[in-house]
Amino acid sequence: MRSKLFVPGSRPELFGKALQGEADALSFDLEDSVSPGRKAEARGALQDLLSGPVARASGKTLIVRVNPFGSEHFEDDVRAVVRPGLALLNLPKVESPDQVLAAVRALEAAERANGLAGPVGLLLNIESPRGLRLAYELASAHSRVAGLQLGLGDLFEPLQIARHEPAALHAVMLQMRLAAGEAGVFAYDAAYPRFSDVEGFRAEAALARRLGYIGKSCIHPSQVAHANEVFRPTDEEIAHARRVDAAAADAEARGLGAYTVDGQMVDAPFVNRARAVLGTAKRLGIG
Ligand code: COA
Ligand code: MG
Repeated sequence: MRSKLFVPGSRPELFGKALQGEADALSFDLEDSVSPGRKAEARGALQDLLSGPVARASGKTLIVRVNPFGSEHFEDDVRAVVRPGLALLNLPKVESPDQVLAAVRALEAAERANGLAGPVGLLLNIESPRGLRLAYELASAHSRVAGLQLGLGDLFEPLQIARHEPAALHAVMLQMRLAAGEAGVFAYDAAYPRFSDVEGFRAEAALARRLGYIGKSCIHPSQVAHANEVFRPTDEEIAHARRVDAAAADAEARGLGAYTVDGQMVDAPFVNRARAVLGTAKRLGIG
C-alpha cells in the first residue's frame, strides 16, 4: 500500500476515475472532506459503491474514513460501508483505547448484519497531542488494529505548528513510527495538501520511507505515481536483500550468526529486514 488516495464520498463522479487509477489503496471519505449537510448522501453513495461489484473488481485495498466515534454519524457510517471487500475502516481523531474497543463492537455488529465473512481491520488516525502520546496504547488496544495513520492537519493547525517545519515533522513521524513498531502494526504517512509542490511531496514521502513508513496518503491523483515510486524498493535494495538472504542460508549451514555482505556486517535483524524487502518486492510483482 505505497499510495492511498482520498476520495470524498460526496463526489461520486470521482469514484470511477479513482478505481481505474494507479493508487494501491483508495480511502473514501465521510469525514472532513464532506460537508455536514451532505453526510447522508455521501454515505448512501459509498454504500451503493461498496455493495456492487465494481469496487471489489478493482483489486485495490478499499478503505473508508468514517466520522469520529461519538459523532452523530459514526454508527450510520459503519453500518452503511462495512461491506464485503472493505479492507480497512479508518477511524479519525481516536484518543482512547475504549474508543477503539467500542469501534470494534460497532464493526462486529455491522459485519454480522451485512454478512461479511472476513474481519475488517482498523486504521487509526493519530492526529491530536493526546492521540500521539497514547499511540502505542491505541495501536495495541485490539488485534483488529492494522496500522496507524499520521494526520498532520488536525495535529499541527490548532497548535500553530508550521506544517513544513522539519524538526516538528521528524519528531512526530518518528514518535508514531516507534509506537506502531512496538504494537506490531504499520505506520502510514500523512496527506500533503500542497498538491502542486511535487518536490515537497516527494521529499516528505522519502523522509517517511527512511523512517519505516509503508506509504503516503494522497489527496490528488497527481501525487499517486510519486508515492508509488518513492515507496517501491529500489533495484539495488532488492539485489542487496537477495544477497543477504542467500548469505543467511549459507551462514546458517556453517553455524555463523554474523557475517559480511556487501562490505557490511549482517546478523538476524538485517536478515529479517532483507526478507521483508523481498516480500514487498514480490507483492509488487518486481521480486
Ligand atoms: N480522486 C479521484 N480523482 C480526482 C481526485 C480524487 N481525490 N481529485 C481530483 N481528481 C480528478 C479531477 O476530477 C480531475 O479530473 P479530470 O481531469 O478528468 O477533470 C483531475 O483529477 C484533476 O483535478 P483538479 O481539477 O486538479 O482537482 P479539483 O480542483 O477538482 O480538486 C481537491 C482538488 C484537492 C479539492 C480534490 O483533489 C479533492 O477533493 N481531494 C481529496 C480531498 C480529501 O479527501 N481530503 C480529506 C483527506 S486529507
Ligand atoms: Mg482531518
